[in-house]
Amino acid sequence: MHYPRRAFLKKMGSLSTTAAAMPLFNPKFSPQQEEKIEKWADINASRLAKDEKFWEEIRQFYSVPNDYINLENGYYSMTADPVMDAQDQQNRRINLNPSIYMRQHKWDDYNRVKQAMADFAGCTPEEMVLCRNTTEALDTVILGLKMEAGDEAIMTNQDYGSMRAAFNQRARRDKIVNKVISLPLHPKNDQEVVDAYEKAITPRTKVILVTHLINITGQVLPVRKIADMAHSKGVEVISDSAHSLGHIDFKISDLDCDYFGTSLHKWVGAPLGNGMMYIRKDKIERVWPLLGDDSHADDDIRKFEHWGTRPHAIINAILDALEFQNKIGIDRKQARLRYLKHYWTSQLKEHPGIIINTPFEEERSSGIANVGVKGLPPAELANKLYDDFNIFTVAIDTEAVKGTRVTPHLYTKLEDLDQLVSALKELSA
Ligand SMILES: Cc1ncc(COP(=O)(O)O)c(C=O)c1O
Repeated sequence: MHYPRRAFLKKMGSLSTTAAAMPLFNPKFSPQQEEKIEKWADINASRLAKDEKFWEEIRQFYSVPNDYINLENGYYSMTADPVMDAQDQQNRRINLNPSIYMRQHKWDDYNRVKQAMADFAGCTPEEMVLCRNTTEALDTVILGLKMEAGDEAIMTNQDYGSMRAAFNQRARRDKIVNKVISLPLHPKNDQEVVDAYEKAITPRTKVILVTHLINITGQVLPVRKIADMAHSKGVEVISDSAHSLGHIDFKISDLDCDYFGTSLHKWVGAPLGNGMMYIRKDKIERVWPLLGDDSHADDDIRKFEHWGTRPHAIINAILDALEFQNKIGIDRKQARLRYLKHYWTSQLKEHPGIIINTPFEEERSSGIANVGVKGLPPAELANKLYDDFNIFTVAIDTEAVKGTRVTPHLYTKLEDLDQLVSALKELSA
């Protein structure tokens, strides 16, 4: 968003006076931008998913480079311009009165952002903290959970490396036992997935790690059904939701998991370095904080907020990211991302020499998919796409999955995906 320079300086100036003149600065969209989004308000999500005019307008909110096609929006995705501007303004605002801000204002702002984030995610502020990313959120849980030698944890060979590394560290340090199962790439139904976890449960099982939206394939797992099964056997569930919040339409309360971590710089569109950890109220007492705290009770979520000095500009700008997300609407975002994935995968589904490593059913995937070309190692495939066709993706070469991950975003044009399809056809010929 581009503020007229004079208005901008006036706002900045007002912040330098007294501490009381330091409200959380949450810039609104310009009237033109508001108008652009509002005029589509009554159109339903599935119709809008195919409306290129609407998505072209959304694209205008981002500064998309035009010298290559970015189909690797999974690592983290571009922050919209109004949110970037808010972050810059927050940085300046805090820098003007650095210690007053940190001593007198940061917690008010933080708690306001926290409330908005809790509303968006579907939990209460008493069950969550704003942290740096999913790794911090879930490693805090995995390393802090009260588990003893011989206790078992279940995970899959498609879970994210950092979470498996944390469990492996606990195995070395505390002699817990990790059971790694494999999951089908194309399950027939949810029950097949639930059964895979259930078979690995023993009387010593304490916890299951479930990746909600698997980053290497894009498969969406039925977390709620897995949690229902696990809870019926007294087993807790950690949901790795790094890729699902702000991407698919759900609330944490729908999942009924015990622990949850996400990265807000992925699909919520917040500035880089934002994440969220959720712990169900009655489980907080079971988890040791990673950073020592002796100011709060064991069952108080604030024991996880003892993190020292942090960059509050990026935290405050989460509010702006949420405002932007809410204006677009998660139902519309989900429908568009699914449409984009369907648009390119359906053209390659039956193509000889091409393998799609992602389920085709709508509810079992969303915007992310993984594609392999027979005879081409994943790294070579990703390199050729970039070097020869100017399309950036990421190679996935694991025991379970081989291919390149393709992740469009709201600013992706159908022409970009047409180019991908024709490049893949050429490479498989
Ligand atoms: C499934 C999954 N979990 C966790 C992470 C870690 O996210 P971050 O690096 O933001 O901590 C990622 C990152 O891509 C991921 O895909």
